[in-house]
Amino acid sequence: MAAGKGTRMRSTTPKVLQPILDRSIIDYVLRSVFEAGIKPENVGVLVGSGGELVEQHLRENFPSELNILWQHEQLGTGHAVKSAREFWTNYDNLIVLNGDLPLIKPESLKNFINESGGNDCTVISFNAKHAKQYGRILREENKIKIVEFKDATPEQRKIHEVNAGCYAFKVKSLEEVIDLIKNDNAQKEYYLPDALYLMNEKNMQTGAFIFPEEEMQGINNQSELAQASRVMRKRISEKWLEIGVRMPVPESVYISPDAKLSQGVVIMPNVQIWGESEIGENSYIGSGSILTNVKIGSNVKIIAYAVIENSELKDNSKAGPFCYIRDGSCLEEKSFAGKFVELKNSKIGENSKVPHLSYMGDATLGHDVNIGAGSITCNYDGVHKNKTFIGNNCFVGSNTMFVAPVELSDGAATAAGSVITQAVPENALGVGRARQTNIKDWSILHNHLIKPQPKGEN
Ligand code: UD1
Ligand code: MG
Repeated sequence: MAAGKGTRMRSTTPKVLQPILDRSIIDYVLRSVFEAGIKPENVGVLVGSGGELVEQHLRENFPSELNILWQHEQLGTGHAVKSAREFWTNYDNLIVLNGDLPLIKPESLKNFINESGGNDCTVISFNAKHAKQYGRILREENKIKIVEFKDATPEQRKIHEVNAGCYAFKVKSLEEVIDLIKNDNAQKEYYLPDALYLMNEKNMQTGAFIFPEEEMQGINNQSELAQASRVMRKRISEKWLEIGVRMPVPESVYISPDAKLSQGVVIMPNVQIWGESEIGENSYIGSGSILTNVKIGSNVKIIAYAVIENSELKDNSKAGPFCYIRDGSCLEEKSFAGKFVELKNSKIGENSKVPHLSYMGDATLGHDVNIGAGSITCNYDGVHKNKTFIGNNCFVGSNTMFVAPVELSDGAATAAGSVITQAVPENALGVGRARQTNIKDWSILHNHLIKPQPKGEN
């Protein structure tokens, strides 16, 4: 169920699209469902409030077999399930899951599905430290009832066993009661939990399994979202610590659920690793670095404060501190991009170095190239992005401007301060700068002109 208004989030983004790390709430729920072994063609997601956005997100991120169902008016969870009747009516069993339960683990869901078969309806409950506004579980002999917080008596509100929002129904039994759910309650909504009370009336079997609170917290406001993010972040860090990643301060590190790390990786404080990033063995990610969709080989050293996006750093390469590597760039093995260097869509060949203050855009560098400090590619002429090719073993003098498109053949060099507008042939030195002229006795003349005048008489 992902159709609710999410009013308490106080946000224009639909609740189930709110982020935890770099994925949406609904992504975590669906991943757990799929990992628990349920096939996408047997899953329906109910959308409604902000439904176009939610539908688009689901179509872009999940298999096309996933069923998207619409609840056009949000009249409560009972009404939501009823709106999806066409989808579930031909199954024997139905699991209903709140869309705001991102912390539920696949193993728990699997256990619940395997164990819940006997009853007409079984729910997941948990013992809440602060029971807040959760529906309270009323246990009576072998049955359970759920009373919503807003309808509960002061006595009932003291109960700490609460409804998590995950239900296993026998479809035949659900069909007998779904049309009987009324909205004569404090919120004037059709409550799905009322199905249990109606089933009890018909002498059907109802029950609740208690699961750990950590997995079952619903998200209804920003504070609960932040709390869930903390839990998820910790879970992910712990998974990597277990395989031998070293993080001196894991609480300061953010790792996407989609990232893959290897043994011996070191992640220093305040690092963020997003998207489908991969980091190979024994690589070191220095403080303050932000990596998004990167492929990092083994023994790579990112010194500190590097921002790297959609790029690859091969084995034994080095980057930073303070560099920005983006949009399809590649550091080949043993190459280096250093201080205040920006790379865009550029390849730095094996063992080549761009150590300081450079911009390489749309450039391809061969192996064993050295780029002097302050050199840049002038790759954009205002209309087109043009390419720079620098061959193997080239030596680029400091502050060289490559006015692209331009090419240096193998072994070529440029003189410091050159503006290179033409190809430099193999082993040649390209000099593209004004010749120096010295003005004789300039200082003496200059000093005379600016010499302070003696103070006046008066
Ligand atoms: C619900 C339960 C409560 C339980 C809690 C657990 C009801 C009436 N109450 O309360 O017993 O303790 O979850 O977290 O079910 N939704 C729709 N259509 C609607 C209304 C809601 O699809 O018309 C969806 C929401 O998007 C959400 C889920 O159902 O994903 C639960 O709705 P929410 O408003 O969060 O219910 P709670 O107040 O949390
Ligand atoms: Mg909720």
